[in-house]
Amino acid sequence: MVIKDQVFIGDCREVLREFPENSISVCITDPPYNYEFIGHKWDAAEVDRRLKRVQDSNTLVKNIPYGSGLAGGVRNARWYKRVRENILDYQHWCREWAKEVFRVCKPGGIVAAFNSTRTIAHVQIALEKVGFYTRDCLVYRRSSGIPKGLNVQAKLKEKGLPEHQQWQGWHSCLRNEWEAIVVVQKPLMNNYLDTMLQYGVGLFHAVNEDGSFQSNIIENIPREKNGKYNVHCTVKPLVLMEKLVDLLVPASKEHIVLDPFSGSGTTLVAAKKLGRSYVGIEIVPKYVEIINQRLSDTAVENRSLSEEPYTLKLWPEGKL
Ligand SMILES: C[S@@+](CC[C@H](N)C(=O)[O-])C[C@H]1O[C@@H](n2cnc3c(N)ncnc32)[C@H](O)[C@@H]1O
Repeated sequence: MVIKDQVFIGDCREVLREFPENSISVCITDPPYNYEFIGHKWDAAEVDRRLKRVQDSNTLVKNIPYGSGLAGGVRNARWYKRVRENILDYQHWCREWAKEVFRVCKPGGIVAAFNSTRTIAHVQIALEKVGFYTRDCLVYRRSSGIPKGLNVQAKLKEKGLPEHQQWQGWHSCLRNEWEAIVVVQKPLMNNYLDTMLQYGVGLFHAVNEDGSFQSNIIENIPREKNGKYNVHCTVKPLVLMEKLVDLLVPASKEHIVLDPFSGSGTTLVAAKKLGRSYVGIEIVPKYVEIINQRLSDTAVENRSLSEEPYTLKLWPEGKL
């Protein structure tokens, strides 16, 4: 049974087990970065706390993720040990969902997974450990990046220390202007042509409308305001997700785009708009309400591709 144009509520590690193997053409996803990750579960109370914080604030600086270590503080051996254990835990968790994504992807199927510059290596290793091989690491260059680290000079000055003069311009980190998108592929069937002829996937739509050849840096993506009802705190720009869909998924309803960490559904909206099939999974029910609303507000842009009805599924059936 083909599963498409549906959104499931649940933990993708469980929901994906029920998906047929070799059914997904491309997975484009933005999993929680490690600093949003607590143990093996997405923590609903933490989500609520952050949503409130973002709602009351116009500044992204207030949205510094806890545990990201960006705000300074103690860096002793115990801290490093905890950080080390935490990142390995995260890598292990990534392997659990990656294993299922591998199974459901078609041979030659591509996964594009976002993460921060500090944590992407662990996502990449997890994806490789379950059988994918790495094709590239794209740069999504944002239109801005706010310095979030410790301004050493200001801190010394605040403490009344005379050294502040010689530390002018020194900070604890650089301005973070890009996010990483690791691109991995399930092994091909023999070669690119056989895979493409059999499964219709495995290649990049690399020549842009203006004739330029797409590089592995994606930039000049305009900033977008979240829709009124979209209160999700990590929404990706729709134009960016459309770019990835166009780059990785041939234009046909026969191709299903999977996003196992749908959030507010930007990947799914992009896929629908561009006439591809989609399937999403999201663990927080109230985000699924946002996805529903966004999907029903989205029309298929290419009218030659038929629009099929969208359905919502609960996982496990009827439990939520
Ligand atoms: C970074 S956000 C994705 C945001 C999305 N790109 C957007 O534009 O709205 C990651 C999402 O994964 C969800 N999530 C976390 N753990 C999950 C799991 N095990 N299964 C499914 N969804 C999960 C979180 O609730 C969160 O909404």
